[in-house]
Amino acid sequence: MNDATLTVRIHDLAHGGEGVGRVEAPRDSEGEPEGRVCFVEGALPGELVRVAIDARHKRWLRGHVVELLAASEAPLRAEPPCPLADRCGGCSWQHVAPAAQAELKQGIVAGQLRRLPLPPKGPHFTIVASPSALGYRRRARMHYTRTPGGLSLGFFGHHSREVVDCERCLVLDAALDWALQQARAWASWLPSTGEILGLSNGREVVLGLPGVRPDPELEAAIRAVIEASQAAAEQDEQAPVLLGVQLRGGRGRHGVGQTWLELDSVPGSATLPVVQGPFTFSQAQAAQNHALVEHVADMAAAAGSGSAEGPRILELHAGVGNFSRVLARVGRRVWASDADREAVATLQRTVERWGLSVNVKRAQAERLLAKLAEGDRPYDVIVLDPPRAGIGEQAARDLAQVVRRRVVYVSCDPATLARDLQAMLAADASLRLVDVRVFDMMPMTPEVEVVATVERSGERSGDRSGAGR
Ligand SMILES: C[S@@+](CC[C@H](N)C(=O)[O-])C[C@H]1O[C@@H](n2cnc3c(N)ncnc32)[C@H](O)[C@@H]1O
Repeated sequence: MNDATLTVRIHDLAHGGEGVGRVEAPRDSEGEPEGRVCFVEGALPGELVRVAIDARHKRWLRGHVVELLAASEAPLRAEPPCPLADRCGGCSWQHVAPAAQAELKQGIVAGQLRRLPLPPKGPHFTIVASPSALGYRRRARMHYTRTPGGLSLGFFGHHSREVVDCERCLVLDAALDWALQQARAWASWLPSTGEILGLSNGREVVLGLPGVRPDPELEAAIRAVIEASQAAAEQDEQAPVLLGVQLRGGRGRHGVGQTWLELDSVPGSATLPVVQGPFTFSQAQAAQNHALVEHVADMAAAAGSGSAEGPRILELHAGVGNFSRVLARVGRRVWASDADREAVATLQRTVERWGLSVNVKRAQAERLLAKLAEGDRPYDVIVLDPPRAGIGEQAARDLAQVVRRRVVYVSCDPATLARDLQAMLAADASLRLVDVRVFDMMPMTPEVEVVATVERSGERSGDRSGAGR
C-alpha cells in the first residue's frame, strides 16, 4: 500500500453499497493496469473519482474517494446531513441523495439476483421507498468506551473498532436518541467497553446493557432518569420516556423499571402490536415494517389453499411474531418457529395475548426442514426470514420439497438470497420466482429488506397430500 492515487470511472454499485469501477489512469508506483476493477467507498455510478487504495487483491482493488473529478449526470450525490459522516461507520450512504437511494437499492438487488429468471421491473419487481430518510430508526446498538471524562458513545468508525463519539444521531428516532444519551450519566458503573441496545416505539424506550451486573448505585441512577422522564411526560405528552433498563451480566438478568414495550400500536390498524424487550430482533423502522408485514401477508394469502379455510402456513425465523400476527389472519393454521429461546417465549405470549391460531415451537430452521423433507407433511406456504447468512443450499433444496404452493422469503442480504433461491429453483422445475419487492428499511445505509415470492405451477412431484389435510 502507498499514498499514491488512481483515477477510477464508476459504473455500478456493489452489494455493500460501494461504487464499482475500472482504473482509467494508473498513477501509482505499483502500476495498476488500466481496466482493473476497483471497489470504491463513497463513489456513485457515473462519477470519475480519484481513489486512495486501501487493499490490493489479485483481480481487484479496494479504496476510498479522495476527490470527485467529475459528477454523474444523474442527481445522485448530496451533502451529508450528518457532521460525523466522514468518520462514523453507522451510515455509509450519507453522501447519497435521499431521493435516489431507493432506485439505487433496487439496482443492487437486481444485480445480485441477475442469474435468476427475475420478473422485469414493473408490478412484480418493485421498491417501496422510505417515507423519511432521517429520524426513522427505532432500534440501535451503540458502542461505548469509558474515558476519563465519562463515555465515548456512538457507532464504530469506518473499518475500525474505535467508537466515534456521537452526541446526536440524526437517523435515530428522537426518543431513542435521547434515551441512549442518558447512559453517559452511568459511566462509572459500566465496564471499560461495551454496548447499549435500545428499542423505541416513538415515545417510550427500553434499553439493554449486556455485560453489566446489577449494582444498587447504578440502579438508583437509572431510576432517577426513569422518574425524571415520567415527570416530564406529565407536563408534555410528546416528551420521551425511559421505561426501563435490562442488565445482563454473566448469567444474571436484572430489570430496572419496565423492560418491555408495545411496538406497532397503530389505532385502527389490523396489524396487532407486539410486546418485546431490547434483546430480541425487530425491524429498524415502524412505517416500512408495517408495509413489509402487509406485503408478506398478501403474498401468503394469494397462495390460496385449494380449500375455503385458507392455507396451512409454516413460518421459520418467526422472532417475536412480527409476521405471525398477520399470518394468523390469513392461514387456516400457522406453525411458527425460531431458534432463539427468548424470541419464542415472547412469541408465545403474543399468541396467547391475542388468542391467535398459531402453534409455536423452538427449532433450528435447517434441521426442521431436513426432518420435514423426510416425511410427507407439506405446507401450502412457507415464510422464512433468516439472518444475513441465509439458510444455505441444502435447506433451500429441502424447502423446495416441503412447500406445496408458495415460498415467501424475506431477506436482508440479496447475495445469500440469490444463492438460496438458485438452489431452490434448481431442485424443482415447477417452482418459479413470481414477485420481488424491495423495502428501503434503513435510508442513509445500503441495507435492504427483500421479499422474494416463489410459486409452484402444478403439483409437487409425487404429491400425495389432499388439499383438506
Ligand atoms: C432477521 S430476524 C427475523 C425475525 C422476525 N421474522 C421479524 O420480522 O422480526 C431472524 C430470526 O431468525 C432467528 N434465527 C437465527 N438463526 C436461526 C436458525 N438457524 N433457525 C431458526 N431461527 C434462527 C433469530 O433468532 C431471529 O429471530
